[in-house]
Amino acid sequence: MRDHHRKLIKKKNIIEKYNSSFEYYDDRYRSIQLQKYELAFKGANFQSKLILDAGCGTGLLYTHLSKHVSKSKCARSNFICLDISLNMLKKIKIKEEFKEEKAHISLILSDMENLPFRGNFFDLIVSITSLQNLPDIFQGVSELIRISKRGTEFYLSILKKDTRLKKLISKFKPYFNDFMMINNEELEDSIIQGKLM
Ligand SMILES: C[S@@+](CC[C@H](N)C(=O)[O-])C[C@H]1O[C@@H](n2cnc3c(N)ncnc32)[C@H](O)[C@@H]1O
Repeated sequence: MRDHHRKLIKKKNIIEKYNSSFEYYDDRYRSIQLQKYELAFKGANFQSKLILDAGCGTGLLYTHLSKHVSKSKCARSNFICLDISLNMLKKIKIKEEFKEEKAHISLILSDMENLPFRGNFFDLIVSITSLQNLPDIFQGVSELIRISKRGTEFYLSILKKDTRLKKLISKFKPYFNDFMMINNEELEDSIIQGKLM
């Protein structure tokens, strides 16, 4: 019970942190996040896929893809952007890319540790620099696996300094084909890719 309470407090603090940093988030983190996207999504194809961006923040990834990835690689894709901070999601709503008539994007306010989707649903899962915020990171990744189909592509990144990273890899690596970890010296995150077996 005490552990449960501690986790709830941690989550509440995270919500408050992002609810109050949404205004300057893009200016402060845009260029760092773009470096990660370029490395993580080199060669990725989003075409005709149902995509979850878990912990999407202010939608920097969606903006990046709509500006810098060829139209054919994103054609007929559907993005679901999910975050636990209402203010971060509100920031997406006022962006031009969201207002565009052809924007295939839905916003969901929810918790990655308890996802509001049925199993076997998504074709591609993205979570960039969000997992380290979870009080129970193992529950969060189990949820991402639950809602995915066989063959679903995963693109995750997590801060290298997170002490749970090693255990996370050894626990979940067996679930994936083509598992790969990218550890670029210049990045604060480890990038993890794989296809669900
Ligand atoms: C460092 S930001 C990364 C945002 C975005 N992925 C990017 O590339 O800019 C971390 C995000 O994770 C979200 N987050 C933290 N805990 C979460 C949870 N339990 N469920 C969903 N989102 C969460 C935060 O609200 C924040 O928007």
